[in-house]
Amino acid sequence: MHIVENNGGKSGSRLHRFMDIELELGPAVLVPREETAILGNAAIAILKDRAPGAHVIDMCCGSGNLGLAIASKVPSARVWSADLTDSTVAVARRNADRLGVADRVTIAQGDLFGAFDGLDLAGSIDLVVCNPPYISSARLEGDRSELLESEPREAFDGGPYGLSIHQRLIREAQAFLKPGGWLAFEFGEGQDRQVAALLARARAYAPVSFATDISNAPRVAIARKLDPA
Ligand SMILES: C[S@@+](CC[C@H](N)C(=O)[O-])C[C@H]1O[C@@H](n2cnc3c(N)ncnc32)[C@H](O)[C@@H]1O
Repeated sequence: MHIVENNGGKSGSRLHRFMDIELELGPAVLVPREETAILGNAAIAILKDRAPGAHVIDMCCGSGNLGLAIASKVPSARVWSADLTDSTVAVARRNADRLGVADRVTIAQGDLFGAFDGLDLAGSIDLVVCNPPYISSARLEGDRSELLESEPREAFDGGPYGLSIHQRLIREAQAFLKPGGWLAFEFGEGQDRQVAALLARARAYAPVSFATDISNAPRVAIARKLDPA
């Protein structure tokens, strides 16, 4: 993961570009990384193969970058985004307004899918995308501690092995996805075998495929929910 310019969210400061959209950021919001476009492009490729009007969840939305890029590039898509923190949700809502997609993007606050309580989304989603925190708590206190100098802990801390949120995502997404719907998420370098094991253990998804970065390292998992019929 590398640091790119953070505009600090100050009014009048420059916007950050991600997948051809411009985003306001802020001191308590992760600066979208270039490699996250791998997940964004995989999501758009999946949606192009599905019927228009797809329903998409962007979980752990941060500035809103993934859900808003999807809404901008796939005008028929309806998106629900969510994040745990007040600051990210406020920034993501401002970004949705500025990009003119707020009528198709709902941004909710809460702990993972709990953010959507009462919205009646169970079994209705074609695609869940997520770029969760995936650095272990120990590394954040050690060799990756520089990340916390300018960005929030919630954006990085993936628990004891860096995969705590992935575990919950894989389990909780099942109730929201339609049969045949897709789960696509980013993970850290070297986490691909554990991610494949978590997906296999869930017994709810077809075999995973991976999208790779420029050095050919797997960085995005793509798995289709099984049709129980
Ligand atoms: C790696 S950042 C990704 C942000 C953005 N999607 C991106 O690609 O730049 C992870 C995000 O997950 C959020 N997050 C952490 N724990 C969460 C939880 N339990 N429920 C919802 N969001 C959470 C953080 O606040 C942070 O915005």
